[in-house]
Amino acid sequence: MSSSSRSASTKHQGVITCKAAVAWGAGEALVMEEVQVSPPQPMEIRLKVVCTSLCRSDITSWLAQAQPPIFPRIFGHEASGIVESVGQGVTEFEEGDHVLTLFIGECKRCRHCTSGKSNICQVLGLERRGVMHSDQETRFSIKGKPIYHYCAVSSFSEYTVVHSGCAVKVSSIAPLEKVCLLSCGVAAGLGAAWKVADVSEGSTVVIFGLGTVGLSVAQGAKMRGASRIIGVDTNPEKSEKAKAFGITDFINPNDCNEPIQQVIKNITDGGADYSFECIGDTGMITTALQSCCDGWGLAVTLGVPNTKPEIAAHYGLFLSGRTLRGSLLGGWKPKSDLPHLVDMYLREVIDDLIVPQELQIDEFITHNLPFEEINKAFDLMTAGKCLRCVIHMPN
Ligand SMILES: NC(=O)c1ccc[n+]([C@@H]2O[C@H](COP(=O)([O-])OP(=O)(O)OC[C@H]3O[C@@H](n4cnc5c(N)ncnc54)[C@H](O)[C@@H]3O)[C@@H](O)[C@H]2O)c1
Ligand SMILES: [Zn+2]
Ligand SMILES: [Zn+2]
Repeated sequence: MSSSSRSASTKHQGVITCKAAVAWGAGEALVMEEVQVSPPQPMEIRLKVVCTSLCRSDITSWLAQAQPPIFPRIFGHEASGIVESVGQGVTEFEEGDHVLTLFIGECKRCRHCTSGKSNICQVLGLERRGVMHSDQETRFSIKGKPIYHYCAVSSFSEYTVVHSGCAVKVSSIAPLEKVCLLSCGVAAGLGAAWKVADVSEGSTVVIFGLGTVGLSVAQGAKMRGASRIIGVDTNPEKSEKAKAFGITDFINPNDCNEPIQQVIKNITDGGADYSFECIGDTGMITTALQSCCDGWGLAVTLGVPNTKPEIAAHYGLFLSGRTLRGSLLGGWKPKSDLPHLVDMYLREVIDDLIVPQELQIDEFITHNLPFEEINKAFDLMTAGKCLRCVIHMPN
């Protein structure tokens, strides 16, 4: 079958009316609304969302303290789904394919995609205006009024439309209620340790913020054989959970008599080899830089700023050899790399003899909720009571 006849054969091309959790204003509880979801436009696909987990970035953007307020809007970007229909020209997907959504896509053709150096696609990069990449329009509406997207994913809806470059096919045996975490948080942390920092065996690591992102960095550092993985969090409840992901020393800065960077320096003979900021507080980026050693210390920032976006750091920190790097989605080229992470997780499920070190995903899922209770997930994360809460869409 030719690609054009295949794409033309898609059956469901009408508007779908379904339930979506709409944010009408900054920090306002989401409201379950009936929304109209347009058919996929050329090179787009429409998905039936299966599961979506809540990531801190959804909350930061919903609160809109460091980003322009764009409302009404459908949040959600860490998700799994099944292709419902495909737009004109799409040959890579067909109805029924299982996918993860991608908040940064991969066109495979731009300077960055072909560089081997970056995952920041110039065509399908982080979308900040609440519209689709291709035509700057929305695919959601309520009675004709547009409802904005989030990161061109918007998974807090039973159905959503994404660019075909912003989804990746995964094995049909992958449990979609688990691997949705690889669509953002877990992949971001693992990649920061493996691809961005390239943590070496025997090294010392300090991680600020022990949510799913920080603990995924810990998991990655542990698998690389880091000798000491220091976890810093102001929430004392994180201490116990952190050990399961490889944290060797837990420090609550509120229990310390000295600034936390000084405590880290004292216990690491002048600073860690690597530090990771996984909070979303730009003040902590400075602290992370101060906590890694001079000469070669590398601070990696993953957090999305919750208030002030500018960072401040004394130039001497850099003159003495430290480096600061940022990363989105752990530097992974999402279409090329994420299926490998899914397979890594699956092999452990199928035959635990094949992969000596298992990839932990299930352990991050502290809560499961039906879609209609999505606001509880916001409450849990805001109160620091969950790692990941997976929201299950109705069948
Ligand atoms: N770069 C990326 O690709 C990427 C991907 C996902 C999430 N993020 C960002 O990473 C950050 C972490 O995400 P998450 O989902 O793990 O969030 P989370 O809220 O689950 O975890 C953040 C942790 O930081 C702790 N914390 C808050 N203030 C602190 C302080 N002053 N000192 C020490 N600890 C403190 C909290 O107690 C919490 O345990 C967020 O900013 C999020 O937006 C980035
Ligand atoms: Zn995220
Ligand atoms: Zn590209």
